[in-house]
Amino acid sequence: MKFSKLLLTTAIGGVATLGFSVGSADAKGKLNYYCSAQEDWCQLMARGFEKETGIKVNMSRKSSGETFAQIKAESRNPKGDVWWGGTGDPHLQAAEEGLTTPYKSAMRAELADWSLNQARSAGDKTIGIYSGALGYGYNENVLKKNSLPVPACWKDLLKPAYKGHVQMANPNSSGTAYTTLATIVQIFGEAEGFEFMKGLHKNINQYTKSGSAPIKAAARGENTIGIVFLHDAVKQAVKGFPIKSVAPCEGTGYEIGSMSIIKGARNLEEAKMFYDFALRADIQSQAVTVKAFQVPSNKGAKTSPKAPKLSSIKLINYDFKKYGSSVERKRLLKKWDDEVKSLAK
Ligand code: G6P
Repeated sequence: MKFSKLLLTTAIGGVATLGFSVGSADAKGKLNYYCSAQEDWCQLMARGFEKETGIKVNMSRKSSGETFAQIKAESRNPKGDVWWGGTGDPHLQAAEEGLTTPYKSAMRAELADWSLNQARSAGDKTIGIYSGALGYGYNENVLKKNSLPVPACWKDLLKPAYKGHVQMANPNSSGTAYTTLATIVQIFGEAEGFEFMKGLHKNINQYTKSGSAPIKAAARGENTIGIVFLHDAVKQAVKGFPIKSVAPCEGTGYEIGSMSIIKGARNLEEAKMFYDFALRADIQSQAVTVKAFQVPSNKGAKTSPKAPKLSSIKLINYDFKKYGSSVERKRLLKKWDDEVKSLAK
C-alpha cells in the first residue's frame, strides 16, 4: 500500500493498515486483525469495531493463501489475533495444522447451517461468515471491440480466440483461484481438470496475487474476462462499469468465507469480542454499504436484491473437507506450479 493511501485511511478511519504498534496499549485494549476480504469491507469492520468498543484495531489485508502462509510462518510467535474473511479452504487447513484455536460463540444460534457445518468440521476452530459462488465476469465493451463471442461455460474459456483475454489469480496466494482450481478438478475429474488448466494457461494474460484483481482490471478496460466470485463481478457492475457476470453452464463451486481466532493470540478477549461482533445480523447487514454482495451467515442479516441468486446457479457439491485438507491443498498447488504455471504459452 502506498504511504499516501495509508495516511488517508488513517486520517479518515483512525485505523492503521500497516504494521503493528509496539508498546503499551490503551486501557481499552487492542486487536491485531488479519483480513482477507475486500479492502473496503475490511476497513468497515475495523472501524465499526473500534467505534463500538474503543479497542484499537491494527489491520493487515492480504489474500487468503498469503494470510495462511503468514500465520504459519508466525506460529512460534503469533502476531495476529483474529483472521476474518477469505475463502474457507485455507482456514480449514489452518485449523487442521493447529494454527487456530476453538471458540464457540453465543451467536451460533443465529447462524445458517452451512456456517455451522464449517465450524463442526474443524473442531470449532473456524466458522462461516459469508458465502458466494464462483464464475467469471467480462467487460462487454472490450469483448465487442475485439469481436469476441460471449462466453457461457468454463470450456468456452479455452477457445483460441480468447488468447491473452483471460485473467485469474495465482492459487497459491489467492483463495479465489484455489477455489477455481478445486472446482475445475471436481467438475471434470483430476486428469481432465488439469488438461483444462493447461489449456486455460494459454489464454491467461496474467496471474494476479489477489482474487478480485482480474475483474477490477476488466472494469478499467485493461483485461477482458476475469475468473472471480460472482459477487465481485456484480460489485463492479453496480459501480457502473460495463461488467457482465457468468455462472458457467457446467456448474460451479463456491466459497464459505470464514473467520478464525489465531492460536496463541495475545489479545484473546478482544479477538472473541470481534468474533461475536462479526457474527451479528446488524453488522453483517452493513456489507451492502460497501457493495459486498456475499450471502451473510447470520440468518437475520439483510441481503441486497443485486446479490447473485445462489438458488438459480448450478452449484456443485464442493467437498470442503477434502479440498480444505492440508495434504490435498498442498498437493494440488504443487501440481499446478509444476504442470501448469511452468508451461510456456
Ligand atoms: C474477494 C471476495 C471474497 C473472497 C476473497 C478471497 O475479496 O469478495 O468473497 O473471500 O476475495 O480473496 P483472495 O484474494 O484470497 O482470492
